[in-house]
Amino acid sequence: EKELNIVNLPSLEAEAEKIIPKGGFGYIAGGSEDNWTLKANTEAFNHVQIVPHVLSDIEDPQTNTSIFGIDVKTPIMMTATAAQGLAHAKGEMDTAKGIAKAGALMEQSTYSSTSIADTMAAGNGAPQFFQLYMSKDWTFNESLLKEAKQAGAKAIVLTADATVDGYRESDIINDFQFPTPMANLTKFSEGDGEGKGIGEIYAAAAQKISPKDIQRIKDIAGLPVIVKGVQSPEDALLAIGAGADVIQVSNHGGRQLNGGPASFDVLSDVAKAVNHRVPIIFDSGVRRGSHVFKALASGADMVAMGRPVIYGLALGGADGVYSVVEHLNDEFKTIMQLAGTKTIEDVKHAKLLKK
Ligand code: FNR
Repeated sequence: EKELNIVNLPSLEAEAEKIIPKGGFGYIAGGSEDNWTLKANTEAFNHVQIVPHVLSDIEDPQTNTSIFGIDVKTPIMMTATAAQGLAHAKGEMDTAKGIAKAGALMEQSTYSSTSIADTMAAGNGAPQFFQLYMSKDWTFNESLLKEAKQAGAKAIVLTADATVDGYRESDIINDFQFPTPMANLTKFSEGDGEGKGIGEIYAAAAQKISPKDIQRIKDIAGLPVIVKGVQSPEDALLAIGAGADVIQVSNHGGRQLNGGPASFDVLSDVAKAVNHRVPIIFDSGVRRGSHVFKALASGADMVAMGRPVIYGLALGGADGVYSVVEHLNDEFKTIMQLAGTKTIEDVKHAKLLKK
């Protein structure tokens, strides 16, 4: 357990590969098919440039911001990722600790290694959202949603881009088996005569999600719903019309539809259509302070990342997670200063050049 000496986030992947078992590493690092969309995600940030504002008379940029009334120290947050026990024995509990120490926000996955309540408690009151992989079985959905609300989750993330898993070749090559038990599923899989096995739970995962499910989830949870995996202006408007309180622009880190656009390339069109009606969380491919800046200047309110945080967890537990967020926030602050922006609001109004 140590704070990490980080030069940059991309270099963490090779470090983490040395300590995470092969199957687990392939599952974390991989995308789908030939990884085209995975690679495009990070490259896409080069499609626009930051035009600096000099003589700006500013110093000491401030990264604090808020999303629907939740104050955070940084717009950088942790997105939902499954099975963090693959990276570290304490799994999501250490992630929650590190994220809380950084004053940031996190999403918990349905398929977490540690339970909703334990992960929430590890964050010691820091704000968290619960991500739902919707099941055809609404007793399952209802039970998890109520548990999340009870544990203090501030919102539900409905992942809409995973009605089947993408074709992930590294998992096939490594014959990767998802680790069990999964904390949130054990009460459904225990042998009480009525419980289901993990395989049955997977088989019951919803292969179709419709706009009306958004309101149904809102009604059950009594919490705002974030629709995750949106990549087009039309779908953003569809989701908002159906009750979405937040849009999460994401292509699941290139793990689902390969051949789809880089997440960053669709962000500004989605933001224009949303037109500030609801906040936007952005993820997929974020590795640099300049990426955070460009996403905010393109219409995002919060910028989330997945893999780099998992690598920080593997390399240093809670302090590793903290170090990853701190490092990226420091890079981002340098970009803010050089661009002549003092606040997150300034960044959102900064000028980008598109050639
Ligand atoms: C994910 N992602 C994901 N999304 C989700 O809604 N529920 C989940 O359980 C998971 N699980 C998951 C596991 C792993 C190992 C990864 C890498 C990703 C997708 C995730 O929320 C996010 O969209 C991407 O991770 C963003 O891309 P980067 O930051 O990893 O490039």
